[in-house]
Amino acid sequence: MTISKTAEALFKPFEDGRLKLKNRIVMAPMTRCFSPKGVPGPDVAGYYRRRAKNDVGLIITEGTVINHPAAAADHGVPHFYGEEALEGWSHVVREVHEAGGKIAPQIWHTGTARDKEKFPDSNVDPIGPSGLSLTGQPVSEPLTVEEIRGLVQAYAQAAADAKRIGFDAVEIHGAHGYLIDQFFWEVTNKRTDKYGGDLVGRTTFAVEVIEAVRAAVGPAFPIIFRFSQWKPMHYDAKLAANPEDLGRFLAPLSVAGVDIFHASTRRFWEPEFEGSDLNLAGWTRKLTGKPSITVGSVGLDSVFTSLFEEGKGGQAAGIENLIERLERGEFDLVAVGRALLTDPAWAAKIRDNRTDELLSFTREALATLS
Ligand SMILES: Cc1cc2nc3c(=O)[nH]c(=O)nc-3n(C[C@H](O)[C@H](O)[C@H](O)COP(=O)(O)O)c2cc1C
Repeated sequence: MTISKTAEALFKPFEDGRLKLKNRIVMAPMTRCFSPKGVPGPDVAGYYRRRAKNDVGLIITEGTVINHPAAAADHGVPHFYGEEALEGWSHVVREVHEAGGKIAPQIWHTGTARDKEKFPDSNVDPIGPSGLSLTGQPVSEPLTVEEIRGLVQAYAQAAADAKRIGFDAVEIHGAHGYLIDQFFWEVTNKRTDKYGGDLVGRTTFAVEVIEAVRAAVGPAFPIIFRFSQWKPMHYDAKLAANPEDLGRFLAPLSVAGVDIFHASTRRFWEPEFEGSDLNLAGWTRKLTGKPSITVGSVGLDSVFTSLFEEGKGGQAAGIENLIERLERGEFDLVAVGRALLTDPAWAAKIRDNRTDELLSFTREALATLS
């Protein structure tokens, strides 16, 4: 098969020592809620297999929750603990590998982003560094140090299980206002112990999670860390206001054992700071010297949050700007969300320059999520 000239950069193999991929296309993690009682079944395996078969280099699964009673925020979110759920995941891994793909679970705790009245049961309080919601309202008591230690171990156990059942890497979800990001953000972290304080102090929880994950998976297993400046409903929020702050924020995470940073933005083409074209993934790569993944409206003309707020889909859009940036070495890998959710064959169509066959993203596509 001839790879279309424009897309060539996307189909160059990637190797960083710990992780080898056949191309640069990553499926972005997307929650689906199709795992009854937290157990991913054959339909989940089929869903990922279809993307692997169609030339996605690395699949990052939907967020899958660590072993903690307040981790999930919705019914049907897959668990990453318990014999049955892990057996389900090992089946997913097998199918993706058989189709020639690679796969990493995204391990997740929602923190105070969980609505206690709705799920999973109102006896279980949501948890967070200072017990504050994303609007700064108190919803529970601040976490104790002992509870924090237990959470760190729960992340480490999930990562150890990921390795044991055959995953190719693990992604730690440190983005989008969930538990780890609640430690990062000054609005939700008012602690005065070592887990709070300035931006570097607020990385302490994540550093302990990454170190425990590294100890659990050993030196050769790839660790991906996802972070974002934005939070739900706070799209202008910034953990780091300038490159210096971003460098101070990323350095401890990098030293703790991250191999690849996944810089979550809603539009990959937006410069992160004034005075440079670099996006967040670009700055991350430049400041840490580690590979980075970009994401945000690849192949589509609208941001993903417009779906949840206004019910809006998106039209297929060109990827020339993305390719130029990839060729310049601004980032290493490209995560694709809704375009791949809409169309399992998106990567293969880009590869073969079948651009007239690219689909629009619609609410209906979200309803089936097949
Ligand atoms: C339905 C849906 C579910 C999502 N669930 C997650 C998730 O579980 N974890 C996560 O880090 N991001 C999640 N995201 C964000 C995506 O990973 C991605 O960053 C975002 O959709 C932007 O990429 P896109 O514009 O290519 O869709 C979700 C997005 C969508 C549309």
